[in-house]
Amino acid sequence: MEGRGISQAVIRRLPRYYRYLGELLEDGVERISSNDLSKRMKVTASQIRQDLNNFGGFGQQGYGYNVKYLYTEIGKILGLDRKHNMIIIGAGNLGQALANYAAFERSGFVTKGLFDVNPTLAGITVRGIEIRMMDEIKSFIKNNDIEIAVLTIPKAKAISVANMLVENGIRAIWNFAHTDLNLPENIVVENVHLSESLMRLSYNVLRYKETHQEDK
Ligand code: NAI
Repeated sequence: MEGRGISQAVIRRLPRYYRYLGELLEDGVERISSNDLSKRMKVTASQIRQDLNNFGGFGQQGYGYNVKYLYTEIGKILGLDRKHNMIIIGAGNLGQALANYAAFERSGFVTKGLFDVNPTLAGITVRGIEIRMMDEIKSFIKNNDIEIAVLTIPKAKAISVANMLVENGIRAIWNFAHTDLNLPENIVVENVHLSESLMRLSYNVLRYKETHQEDK
């Protein structure tokens, strides 16, 4: 039971299923039908069935889905049953905010270190995690089994730093810098652009206003 061959569109929806199933588990719900899950998640029941059928055998006719089982299996597919060691490059506003967020660790994402070029930050700790200078980074990656690098540095520096990280064994980058990194295909990059989300919000607010004016 693995995520291989599953479309990226389905993979993008899995974290949301995982979150809803986690909430159901917390509420003590043991099983749920695709119809009930559909009402909660505001996704069609057929979409849910189609998505979850990718993993085979989770749902049973007349029984619905076993919440704990589905939650555990989706967690495994997403790799949340293992530990992922991370470093954050750029210990400014965003880097420190991410380091301060303890909940990532509950999903297995452990921030081992923060790195920066600004010497006034050296040795400061954020939630117990030390800020180190970039000259230490190569040995740190090697000695701490680091898998993921979080990039929260200015975009002008992002590409050269990303290349250096890859040369030193980093296989996955969570990229907040506003630039495309164009790394080799075997390097996994997830770009996060909060401003794009805001632009979609802006678009939808405008459309809403327009339709309301038309209603008047
Ligand atoms: P900031 O200026 O507070 O922090 C940036 C830090 O990176 C500084 O401490 C600086 O010394 C360090 N730095 C610069 N060059 C470096 C290098 N070569 N190696 C290591 N560290 C280096 O900026 P802030 O607000 O934390 O933003 C960081 C980056 O994230 C910016 O590129 C910003 O545009 C981006 N950003 C992206 C968002 C998104 O949704 N994708 C949201 C907010 C910021």
